[in-house]
Amino acid sequence: MGKPMIGRLNHVAIVVPDLKAASRIYRDVLGARVSAPVDMPAHGVTTVFVELPNTKIELLHPLGENSPVAKFLASNPAGGMHHVCFEVDDILAARDKLKADGARVLGDGEPKIGAHDKPVLFLHPKDFCGTLVEIEQA
Ligand code: CO
Repeated sequence: MGKPMIGRLNHVAIVVPDLKAASRIYRDVLGARVSAPVDMPAHGVTTVFVELPNTKIELLHPLGENSPVAKFLASNPAGGMHHVCFEVDDILAARDKLKADGARVLGDGEPKIGAHDKPVLFLHPKDFCGTLVEIEQA
């Protein structure tokens, strides 16, 4: 067997209707380390990062018009898990292998710079057990 394509779970992203309330839950109820909200206009989201010992949780809230998470929140008004992000060593090699295996890469198939200033791609949920998957070149 070759080396696994995916490595660490970089983060789980959860879309929330109220960032303050969600931050309170993670900080005060669950006792996690929670960042201040960070606006990411290029991504159409405001993000709160929850640092865990082995991964991160990203709390996402729509920012501005045409936010990529606005529709998700409209159909999941209480919030919900939006995607998981796995680290890969070589995003282009991973993309080509995934496409060869029949997986659909979203958008134009070219990596974009994600919320952590690293190249990312998103994979169609229908090809991954109903879950939107992000891969990030770590
Ligand atoms: Co993400």
